[in-house]
Amino acid sequence: MKVIIGSESEIAKKAAAQYVKLLVNKPGAVLGGATGSTPLGLYAQLVKLNKEGVISFKDVKTFNLDEYVGLDGSHDQSYRYFMNTNLFDHIDIDPANTHVPDGINTEKAAEYDGMIEAAGGIDLQILGIGVDGHIGFDEPGTPIDSITHVVELEQNTREVNSRFFRSIDEVPTHAVTMGIKTIMNARSIILMAIGKSKAEIVKKMIQGPVTTDVPASILQLHPDVTVYLDDEAAALL
Ligand code: PGA
Repeated sequence: MKVIIGSESEIAKKAAAQYVKLLVNKPGAVLGGATGSTPLGLYAQLVKLNKEGVISFKDVKTFNLDEYVGLDGSHDQSYRYFMNTNLFDHIDIDPANTHVPDGINTEKAAEYDGMIEAAGGIDLQILGIGVDGHIGFDEPGTPIDSITHVVELEQNTREVNSRFFRSIDEVPTHAVTMGIKTIMNARSIILMAIGKSKAEIVKKMIQGPVTTDVPASILQLHPDVTVYLDDEAAALL
């Protein structure tokens, strides 16, 4: 794993530069998207670069990692809504080329990996990391050969995410998520982590053993992963 450490704004710019390099070489690239607080700085950079004409998303296709079960795209806490309002609405992408797992018709999860493959496979997947080591919503114990599936969320994950809802009771209990295998199939992966709450799990991910107890540690087996950390998230390395 390549590890790059800097301020929050530095790592957002450096990660964005990786997108510029990809999109200049491959304008029809397939991008894997993520939600959460972590990629917001990166998405702001991508919007800026698009407005400046440095990159275009006209021929880009996207596939997001996950979606809450029971929320449709108009719900302001759905991940479809997050992607539209934080990225897609502000760039020149064709909405028809953007994909987020269907949180209502969950039987469609079985088709998601096939859709990714039919689009040519993901060139660059962005990931955050949960304090329990999850990537996407692949919680500890998720099998390494898992593809897109429905998961029950850990109580801790629901508590962490309850900050976006009025109360924890409103946080969905289940989600649809790409599996570990789906993620590992991406040709390149960027994982970003920001803040001291991530320092311990970042150390385990990079310096600990590869184990399904820490799903992100499995990325050690991937040939092209770049980890972007702010100084706080990198503090224990
Ligand atoms: P965060 O979420 O970016 O909001 O910290 C990361 C995750 O849970 O994967």
